[in-house]
Amino acid sequence: MTQALQTYMKDKVELINQQLEQFIYAMQIPERLQDSILYSLRAGGKRIRPILMLAASEAYGGQDNRAISVACAVEMIHTYSLIHDDLPAMDDDDTRRGQPTNHRQYDEATAILAGDGLLTTAFYSITNNERLTDSEKTYLVKELAKASGPEGMVAGQMLDMEGENRTLTLEELEAIHRRKTGELLRFSAVAGAFIGGANAQQLEEIETYANYLGLLFQIQDDILDVIGDEQHIGKPVGSDQTNQKSTYPQLLGLQGALEQKEHYALKAKQSLQKAGVDSSYLEDIIDYISNRYK
Ligand code: IPE
Ligand code: IPE
Ligand code: MG
Ligand code: MG
Ligand code: MG
Repeated sequence: MTQALQTYMKDKVELINQQLEQFIYAMQIPERLQDSILYSLRAGGKRIRPILMLAASEAYGGQDNRAISVACAVEMIHTYSLIHDDLPAMDDDDTRRGQPTNHRQYDEATAILAGDGLLTTAFYSITNNERLTDSEKTYLVKELAKASGPEGMVAGQMLDMEGENRTLTLEELEAIHRRKTGELLRFSAVAGAFIGGANAQQLEEIETYANYLGLLFQIQDDILDVIGDEQHIGKPVGSDQTNQKSTYPQLLGLQGALEQKEHYALKAKQSLQKAGVDSSYLEDIIDYISNRYK
């Protein structure tokens, strides 16, 4: 990772964490539920989606204080999706972000409710920013609902479950990943650019850039599930194999998956060049996502 991106990310992670905590603390939530929500929010995720949003906003001249409540919203949705993804009925994993999974630390019912709470609070967070206009809020709520709902991330999770125990084609695998992982990354980049003031054509190019980022992200997630170091990734290695998931390394071989990644990284760079922004952070994020070890 470049030094510039490292410094940028450190700075933004601080802002995001502080805002997330502040928001949850200000709410009247039963103590055990609040603890469980904060437990997962504080567990040290990479915050790549909110960082991508802030960077996309900034690339078009936007201010963090307009994008931050939406950035927090996408991280809340992401964290909820992970809490539910780890449940026994889904991937049945015991560690996440280097700690016991939410249902292991608390119990299944609390973990389900923590997820429900984060999902709904995400939309509250978007509406609770006086620096966004009502029409901006309406657009952002609608887009986040579409990206995270049963046509978006939730669709991807369903198709992922249905794909267990059978070999998918590469097209089927990509269709899952576009929804499961791609949609929230796509929303993050597009919402950021929208808040920053990008025009319709720029939004389209940013969307293409983000779609490739999503595929890159999931290929690397699959690769790390094979060759990752549990200490770094903070979740079990080999979970996909245990759950008989189709993955890029399984379909293409490890070498083939690495090549596919390079191909998508190039595509992402080309779309960014067309997006009419001069943002080294958005470009650095491509390499970061592609080569991350956690
Ligand atoms: C993991 O996401 C789940 C996928 C969508 C592949 P991240 O790798 O962004 O997880 P955290 O937030 O850093 O824990
Ligand atoms: C989960 O995908 C993606 C979502 C939660 C939407 P995975 O099941 O591959 O994520 P990890 O590997 O458990 O983080
Ligand atoms: Mg899963
Ligand atoms: Mg999982
Ligand atoms: Mg995975």
